[in-house]
Amino acid sequence: MSQYFHYQQDKLFVENMALADIAERFGTPAYVYSQAALTDAYLQYAEAFKGREHLICFAVKSNPNLSILNLFARLGAGFDIVSGGELQRVLAAGGDAGKVVFSGVGKSGEEMRQALAAGILCFNVESEAELLRLNDVAGSMGKVAPISFRVNPNVDAKTHPYISTGLKQSKFGVAYTDALALYRKAARLPHLRITGIDCHIGSQLTETSPFIAAAEKVLLLVDTLAQEGIRLEHIDLGGGLGICYNDETPPSIAEYAKALLGALNGRTEKLIVEPGRVLVGNAGVLLTRVEYLKPGEEKHFAIVDAAMNDLMRPALYEAYHAIQPLTRRAMPAREYEVVGPVCESGDFLGHARELALEQGDFLALMSAGAYGMSMSSNYNTRPRAAEIMINGAEVKLIREREKVEQLFAGEKNYL
Ligand code: LLP
Repeated sequence: MSQYFHYQQDKLFVENMALADIAERFGTPAYVYSQAALTDAYLQYAEAFKGREHLICFAVKSNPNLSILNLFARLGAGFDIVSGGELQRVLAAGGDAGKVVFSGVGKSGEEMRQALAAGILCFNVESEAELLRLNDVAGSMGKVAPISFRVNPNVDAKTHPYISTGLKQSKFGVAYTDALALYRKAARLPHLRITGIDCHIGSQLTETSPFIAAAEKVLLLVDTLAQEGIRLEHIDLGGGLGICYNDETPPSIAEYAKALLGALNGRTEKLIVEPGRVLVGNAGVLLTRVEYLKPGEEKHFAIVDAAMNDLMRPALYEAYHAIQPLTRRAMPAREYEVVGPVCESGDFLGHARELALEQGDFLALMSAGAYGMSMSSNYNTRPRAAEIMINGAEVKLIREREKVEQLFAGEKNYL
């Protein structure tokens, strides 16, 4: 827990608001964010890197709500996007296209056109085929596309295999050994302008050493390119800094920044970073209500109204999210499997949690601000949750709960 999510007597608070009151008012499931926690995380980043020219590009995929993008835009952030849809969100939220980097292995021609028309800062190119397409698309628009290659440094991020992206066998980036030849090729293409280099080795990293190993390999390439007369304006070292969900001890933002800045010592290129989780993860919770308690022979189940469609991380990665009551009860705890209503055995939110519960109680799934709402789905025709932003004692509904009619509004019944 943090200074932003804390108990006052028996009640779990976000900033100055009791979460139980929010749950009563807006219903559950609902995502609730602390504006102060979001702001604080961003400002810690800005402070940690202030010694050199830098741009913090928030990874939109981690939480793309317009209010969150708008908050970061107002604080000066740029954005790391991976689709045309995310670009539209950034623009709708008042973000500056000139601070957008576009990552992703499968950019379509249409997405390239959209990003070129908007005037983004840089395309992080992930293959030779993409390079050629981008050159064609830019040519057809009479534009020059700013590019960097996302280089795969073949470094083990030591994180969950599904969120590790920097190893040789990964689909991401261009192979380290091919990078030089690709830069030479890009330098000859008329509708491209080389501006930088990029790498991102994975997510939820809890040590600095893989970041440094990757940075060092990238910097070697920067030097080789310089010898060939290819001078870069920026070095993008991706995102990936982990947070504490349970008992992890990731480096602090300041420690991480210090390590990166150390590796970059003496260089003048602008530094770009693409943090997602570390800016939003611990700033949000998912509120849910206990529908039923179902005692069993071997296990007791707490069946709650949030499910894998609302928070997919436990089902997908066996990820741990702490589960806290919104009002603590003075009664003995017992061990519960906390599960949702979705018809899948994989639909669990927490295994073997010690909780003192009664039917109707509210719970919070902690640290759900990153990759929670953004990975939610409508599986089982479940409308997606409401999202609420708290700022001190101010409460704002920043996304309405979906209605079932919206879910099939685009469908046709031909029979
Ligand atoms: N840049 C690129 C190119 C990325 O692919 C990602 C995340 C980031 C930046 C931001 O990484 P972060 O700072 O958030 O670690 N759904 C998974 C995480 C997937 C991460 C995908 N890429 C999860 O729930 O843990």
